[in-house]
Amino acid sequence: MTRKTGLIGHPVSHSLSPVIHTHWLQQYRIDGTYTAIDIAPDDLSTRVRALVDDGYVGFNVTLPHKEEIAFLCDDLDDTAQAVGAVNTVTIDNRGRLHGHNTDVDGFINHLKSSVPDFHLSGKHAVVLGAGGAARAVLYALLREDFEWITLINRTRERAVAVANDLDDDGRVLIVDWEKRGGALADTDLLVNTTSLGMTGQAPLDMDVGGLSPNAVVYDIVYRPLMTPLLQQAKMRGNTIVTGLGMLLHQARPAFDAWYGVMPHVDDELESIVMERL
Ligand code: ATR
Repeated sequence: MTRKTGLIGHPVSHSLSPVIHTHWLQQYRIDGTYTAIDIAPDDLSTRVRALVDDGYVGFNVTLPHKEEIAFLCDDLDDTAQAVGAVNTVTIDNRGRLHGHNTDVDGFINHLKSSVPDFHLSGKHAVVLGAGGAARAVLYALLREDFEWITLINRTRERAVAVANDLDDDGRVLIVDWEKRGGALADTDLLVNTTSLGMTGQAPLDMDVGGLSPNAVVYDIVYRPLMTPLLQQAKMRGNTIVTGLGMLLHQARPAFDAWYGVMPHVDDELESIVMERL
């Protein structure tokens, strides 16, 4: 029987997830489908019930539903519970919804595979942003034993709320957005989780002159692949990590949860996805 999966969000038409999962379904010769499904916020509960009734085995969740969907799940795994957001749902054969968050592993596994000699434990990071993506990144860095993490967000209260939720041993320091340029000394990893730098948005206005040449700069924005932040960092000789890999790496455990195969990110998939950026 064809196992149906998909992505729910609003909007979803520009998503690369259907390309990624459909590639893997073909590559591993699995009888399944992955479809982008636009669901307006008011219709979330009804439309999700309809997917269950339609025999779906699971789905990904993107903006603006990542937090709301948690309330519709019968249970959440530890990561989704801690982060407070769900990006992957599995539906069991009794129609119960299980919420997962694969953004955390997607972020960290991509970092480990692109910079294999960068040892995470004991390091220092600066994270920009305080939305759902920042929560996943902060949770990942705390779990990987970063010694301290500076969290910087335009709206300071949101950063404070994120730190209160995730930091139980005082490793997160909040710095005001206006002082971001001065917070980079002794930083091993700078991560942008804000939408700044994305196509159609203003670039992230930040001078990375204070960064050590050994620091790694990771932008989770992937449209464009080389954001102004990454261009600036690359010109200075810093190692850079692009956001596309995080997208690909968060998709792997989701595919595994639905279809029982942990797929690989190969060159062919990377080039297919790059063509669509
Ligand atoms: P996501 O779940 O993808 O992280 P989000 O919750 O909308 O999305 O968060 C977007 C992030 O980008 C926030 O940290 C936001 O800052 P605020 O909390 O102050 O809104 C940040 N952001 C968006 N536009 C920005 C801008 N023009 N300047 C600074 N930060 C911005």
